[in-house]
Amino acid sequence: MPQPLDLPQGFRWGVSTAAYQIEGAVDEDGRGPSIWDTFAARPGAVRDGHTGAVACDHYHRYPEDVALMKGLGLDGYRFSIAWPRIRPTGAGPANPAGLAFYDRLVDALLTAGITPLPTLFHWDLPQALEDADGWLNRDTAYRFAEYTALVADRLGDRVPAWITLNEPFVHMVYGYAMGIHAPGRALMLDALPAAHHQLLGHGLAAAVLRERGLDVTIANNLTPVRPASSSEADQAAATAYDALHNRLFTDPILLGHYPDLSAFGVGPDLGGSVRDGDLKLIAATPLDGLGVNYYNPTRIAAPTDHPGLPFAEAPIEGVPRTAFDWPVVPDGLRELLTGLRDRYGAALPPVTITENGCSVADEPAADGTVSDPDRIAYLAGHLDALAAAVAEGVDVRGYFTWSLLDNFEWAEGYHQRFGLVHVDFETQRRTPKASYAWYRDLIRAHRALQER
Ligand code: FCB
Repeated sequence: MPQPLDLPQGFRWGVSTAAYQIEGAVDEDGRGPSIWDTFAARPGAVRDGHTGAVACDHYHRYPEDVALMKGLGLDGYRFSIAWPRIRPTGAGPANPAGLAFYDRLVDALLTAGITPLPTLFHWDLPQALEDADGWLNRDTAYRFAEYTALVADRLGDRVPAWITLNEPFVHMVYGYAMGIHAPGRALMLDALPAAHHQLLGHGLAAAVLRERGLDVTIANNLTPVRPASSSEADQAAATAYDALHNRLFTDPILLGHYPDLSAFGVGPDLGGSVRDGDLKLIAATPLDGLGVNYYNPTRIAAPTDHPGLPFAEAPIEGVPRTAFDWPVVPDGLRELLTGLRDRYGAALPPVTITENGCSVADEPAADGTVSDPDRIAYLAGHLDALAAAVAEGVDVRGYFTWSLLDNFEWAEGYHQRFGLVHVDFETQRRTPKASYAWYRDLIRAHRALQER
């Protein structure tokens, strides 16, 4: 039986997913193509040619998935809304069948006693907007705000809090700088306008949500950055990397200005994309909460083999690694959270962990059960680190683990299993893993403690 941790009253437990990773049904009910449909169809883009065409078939099986969530006793469910279901061509009126799906999902969640926490953009841009240059085009930010209004008008009576963007850093770097995610552009530093336009989209959407009395959050991928040594060169490289990874998408929202990117040869206008009034707009709607997606720390050294960039990533040795080969460093979460508090002080809103989890090569045993002790150890270690940060005074309000189901893990296809629930992608059979029971028991133990 997991031991409850010392967490604040009302701490919220959840799981996270994203539309393209679980829904499937890419051609149904008027959904338009997304950049991930296009990218996954490109030979060699996704491992073994996997695509999200069927994924977990959640579009049809959501009642079963909500029942699994109910079995966990969750407070909240973080999912994303597929923009191309709502606006198949990126512009014009809403597609009624698209809205109706999320309407059904929200009602099913509420009936199960689970608060829906939707993310408006989790990387599946309508292809029509990519054809007009995607997030490199300032207009995309305005299309995002219009789409936000369509969805908020439909669901805002039942959905109190919203996440604008998921990991704009990862979307910019993988999608626009390196080309390993959709839309597959390899622009290196010329990708920076995709940072500014995503942030502008956040600001515009935040105003739309606030006008309707709804709470606003963003889910940023954050990492504690550790210099590889105490040498001045390694420390300068770590500072540069920290500005790009952690500050670029957080400082403008919380502080109203961009971090110093001069190490990249980039000025405060981010390659000419910033216009008068933009930064004011980006910071104008204060966040009700900051969503933090944490997986691992990053070790950074002075550049050697990355000409043009002021840093090089160095391996983290001597720690366990996930099936994805990501280092497992639970205390990095405490370090990250206390670091955020020290950096932003009173400007830091309450934090919710909106993603944290690990991939394990899980397969059912002969008796059909799935034992995943490595995942349980990962989650337990990170929750201890979270509780340690709370004990050090950081205001953390909730924890949403990634993920409910094994799903389409972007460029890795179905090879990385992050779920509390195993999915057989041939039969769509769902099998709760040992970690599912562990998480359920942990949530129960906390509830019992808090209700005493
Ligand atoms: C995050 C993504 C999420 C999932 C996890 C493993 O970067 O937001 O969709 O793929 O990684």
